[in-house]
Amino acid sequence: MGGTGLALEVTDLSAGYGPVHALRRVSLTVPEGSVVTVLGGNGAGKSTLLRAVSRTLSFHGGAVTSGTVALGGRPIGGLTPDRVVAAGVCQVPEGRQVFARMTVEDNLRAGALGARGDRKARASALRRVHELFPVLADRSRQRAGLLSGGEQQMLAVGRALMASPRLLLLDEPSLGLAPLMAARIADTIREINAQGTTVLLVEQNAALALRLADRAYVLEVGEVALSGPAAELAASDEVRRRYLGVVDEDAAAPDAVVAHPVLSGWEETR
Ligand SMILES: Nc1ncnc2c1ncn2[C@@H]1O[C@H](COP(=O)(O)OP(=O)(O)O)[C@@H](O)[C@H]1O
Ligand SMILES: [Mg+2]
Repeated sequence: MGGTGLALEVTDLSAGYGPVHALRRVSLTVPEGSVVTVLGGNGAGKSTLLRAVSRTLSFHGGAVTSGTVALGGRPIGGLTPDRVVAAGVCQVPEGRQVFARMTVEDNLRAGALGARGDRKARASALRRVHELFPVLADRSRQRAGLLSGGEQQMLAVGRALMASPRLLLLDEPSLGLAPLMAARIADTIREINAQGTTVLLVEQNAALALRLADRAYVLEVGEVALSGPAAELAASDEVRRRYLGVVDEDAAAPDAVVAHPVLSGWEETR
């Protein structure tokens, strides 16, 4: 994806749905090889951001109103969604969407449609998916609708991997899953990244996402409120209180001021 070292660069992006402003001047970068997470509550604009990158906003009645999205230094503003896939970017939409009446095998096959690469590339993508998710090999002839929620999420991720993306966009993969299954999905995302795929992960589950990510952005009503290295975000008391639901037991202690690390390395972006 070019030699810039940046898989994805979003600059001053604003987007909305008719009169609804969903994103305001959002900027973020995803370096090649990294996991970057975008955190935020319901309605913060996370899905809108991914749709702007995959150029699928129009399917939802939305549009980019200003700003740019660039892949490997090249703006993708004029590309159709299938060209974005061909450029190596695949999105796993929210709600683990699988073709319920189709077999697991056929769901995976559908994921390879329109992808770059030949038959050999598809065969090796399928091997990779079966190694990551052995259950998808075991259940290959079953209808996808018969899988558990966690298995359907695996299938949704596996389907995206069939196109051998360089950049994988994941929309709340842990949503609605039991903690153990969410942890398994997290392990797999780490492994997918270790195999060389860059990941942009949007999540409400900040604790899970911050364990995976190199860098994090926090979206609040369509704007980037905070950004920084994930480890620093996870360690900051303020972030722990506001986004991780951690009660600060030391707050009343006399030495609390000393114990509070300043948000060093943090960019308060507004
Ligand atoms: N298809 C749509 N039509 C109209 N408004 C939408 C649509 N999708 C999302 N929105 C609105 O855009 C804002 C951002 O939504 P979204 O990107 O889905 O947030 P998140 O994924 O963080 O929950 C919200 O105010 C939401 O109501
Ligand atoms: Mg969403």
